[in-house]
Amino acid sequence: MMESLEQLRAELAAAVAGAGDLAALEEARVAALGKKGRITGLMKTLGGLSPEERRDAGAALNALKDEISAAIDARRRELERAALDARLEAERVDITLPARPEPRGHLHPISQTIDELIAIFGDMGFSVAEGPDIEDDFHNFTALNFPPGHPAREMHDTFYLPEGEDGTPRLLRTHTSPVQVRTMMGQKPPIRVIIPGRTYRSDHDMTHTPMFHQVEGLVIDESTHMGHLKGCLIEFCRAFFGIDDLPLRFRPSFFPFTEPSAEVDIGCSRKGGELKIGNYGDWLEILGCGMVHPNVIRNCGLDPDRYQGFAFGMGIERIAMLKYGIPDLRTFFEADLRWLRHYGFAALDMPSMTHGLSR
Ligand code: DAH
Repeated sequence: MMESLEQLRAELAAAVAGAGDLAALEEARVAALGKKGRITGLMKTLGGLSPEERRDAGAALNALKDEISAAIDARRRELERAALDARLEAERVDITLPARPEPRGHLHPISQTIDELIAIFGDMGFSVAEGPDIEDDFHNFTALNFPPGHPAREMHDTFYLPEGEDGTPRLLRTHTSPVQVRTMMGQKPPIRVIIPGRTYRSDHDMTHTPMFHQVEGLVIDESTHMGHLKGCLIEFCRAFFGIDDLPLRFRPSFFPFTEPSAEVDIGCSRKGGELKIGNYGDWLEILGCGMVHPNVIRNCGLDPDRYQGFAFGMGIERIAMLKYGIPDLRTFFEADLRWLRHYGFAALDMPSMTHGLSR
């Protein structure tokens, strides 16, 4: 019996070691330890032996059973590891591959400029807010301190829409300022947001399109003053145009929703009929701003004796044209692929204050 056990051990061990996959290993297991397996079969013969023989043979058989079980477990782990390795190899993704050889498609200068605005103001702690293109009279005018019949309403060349279900007149927002109202009514100060988006006016000529883009800024807290407004816009303009000594001039102006109000000019040159941004002694208007009018703060449900802050607004096409030397506003919306290839931007280069705004 002992000799035949040695023989059996060698055969079973060879079958386990030779199993090339999990199915073959299972076959080897059943052949050794299954109901009709060879070790199981020998176990069944123990009953016919004398007590002495049974003790020795039983111990030897149990040892063989444990040994073969352990060998099967070890082989199973080996095969599983090999199967996993094979899968990992087969499903491998080479992340060192460059993006598609020639990335096709370009980012529109408006998208690029909005990304740059977000990078600059994001770095100063602003977040982005949005509002609907279709507005009502309250958000677009009334809450912003445009009294009914005020001439500033007429200056906006508003597109009016059929009344909404609740009977209120609808319109296409003429500026991004209504989102100031939505933001103040929707969140608690301190507020620090920029609001890029589409705006609409019934106007179409060389320098006006019925749809254009603005970016609005709004800061509301208990202590922000005009000095902060100036510092913020100086820093923005210098970062956006990439000119460290770009001069800014704040000229008194009027907007219903700010008091005091100012228009901001940046330095430029018009020598030889060519417009250049920089410290050259001439001035070019680029944005409107001011301290948020107490009436607006009150209309939005906040206490103007406690809260104050500033706002600003500018045209995105305008600053994009100045920065990127795009001469004609109307080309922004002609969807001419040749124009986009020329003035567009690589889609995968996200502007940032650390890596640069545009390349
Ligand atoms: N909403 C103004 C416009 O469309 C621009 C503007 C001016 C926005 C001054 C402001 C501001 O927030 O403070 O002409």
